[in-house]
Amino acid sequence: MSRNQAVLEPIDQHRIKIRGAARLRGELTVPGDKSISHRSVIFNAVASGEAFITNFLPGEDCLSSIECMRAMGVEIELDETARTVRVKGKGIRGLSESAEALNAGNSGTTTRLLTGLLAGQSFYSVITGDSSLRSRPMARVINPLKQMGAQIWGRKGDTLAPLSIKGTTLKGINYSLPVASAQLKSAILLAALYAEGETHLSGLIDSRDHTERMLKAMGAPLQVSTGELVMKSPAAELTAQNVSVPGDISSAAFWLVAASVHPDADLTLRNVGVNPTRTGILDALDEMGANITLLNEREVAGEPVADIRVISAELRGTNVSGNLIPRLVDEIPALAVAAILARSNTRISDAAELRVKETDRIATICSELAQLGANLEAHPDGMTIKAGAKLRGATVQSYGDHRMAMSLAIAGLLLPEGEELEIADYRCADVSYPGFWDDLRKIN
Ligand code: S3P
Repeated sequence: MSRNQAVLEPIDQHRIKIRGAARLRGELTVPGDKSISHRSVIFNAVASGEAFITNFLPGEDCLSSIECMRAMGVEIELDETARTVRVKGKGIRGLSESAEALNAGNSGTTTRLLTGLLAGQSFYSVITGDSSLRSRPMARVINPLKQMGAQIWGRKGDTLAPLSIKGTTLKGINYSLPVASAQLKSAILLAALYAEGETHLSGLIDSRDHTERMLKAMGAPLQVSTGELVMKSPAAELTAQNVSVPGDISSAAFWLVAASVHPDADLTLRNVGVNPTRTGILDALDEMGANITLLNEREVAGEPVADIRVISAELRGTNVSGNLIPRLVDEIPALAVAAILARSNTRISDAAELRVKETDRIATICSELAQLGANLEAHPDGMTIKAGAKLRGATVQSYGDHRMAMSLAIAGLLLPEGEELEIADYRCADVSYPGFWDDLRKIN
């Protein structure tokens, strides 16, 4: 197959054109993990000592976490080119009141983790962010924190940001998590560091466990067992920890899908985090018949890491539901792209959480992939993706959602010759994957 036109062509500041790629080959090192990057800054800011973080993700969300911690007096040196950060920890009680509202931008992780952290401080805080963030549910975090004694107010009956937090004395709780959300779990654990008495968490605690790993490594009095987390609080001090951030499997997911579906692909992704609470995308693609191999498996700074080789395969549909959902929740937009070109239907259920991400991803996945000729049906808690679609060029929207922009881009790479995809609002990919468009260019 010979194709002379570039696969990618920016039209203006907001729009980009993507064409089908003749082949996808080479090696990529995806940027650092977003969840671990946030935690490395926020937790080290309240530890004692200095921490050096390498392969930090300088995406807009993590930069929001840095700015918020700086506003509370923490000295943080960021070298965006080298992707390193030096955090001078203030100690567990060392943060100070910010003169301005803390701006979390588009970042749910920053907002929810800081709500927990700030509930037990001795000062007042306000957290706000962009319009998407201000429409995301905060009651799930505020309710258990209020049970701990927290004083938190927000719009619409204390359910939406901006949030106003009057730091106060907290007490431990026994709480059964009603949603499998690592942000909720982390918010309560951070508040528990400052609470009198033990905090016991049970229920839906099987979400990503980066908080548990990092807090334990810093010496927090946290016990992790099957079905229960116990914080023996209050914490005396945390010890600053250097962090070498693994590549983000949520960013690798776009290439895992593109190379699985493309008929002429062989890609190797270097240094990807393969923490078992995050590898649901590997399980789902395996179930669909993908040809993916983990190489050079190792442990780096308490997190499992591997290189991943992915070669073209013919995929069948799958059912994704239950415990698998929290292990691939951010990868569902990419997985949907794999599913539209599979031989049989795919059903995604138990995924109502998608409705409260950066966009209502059930709605945006279904509306935008349908423009490309896919046949999808939205359900309250997921979607059915029918096999047999013939992709065609279209004009689509990311609605400012980074994972939608990148999922649509990989769908564009799979277009037949002569077809083009125009994506509006494409630059939001920078929220989690600065360099995405350069990497896309690199592999064909
Ligand atoms: C994250 C947890 C997930 C995920 C988000 C990052 C985290 O959200 O969607 O991108 O870093 O804890 P929930 O905890 O709300 O499921």
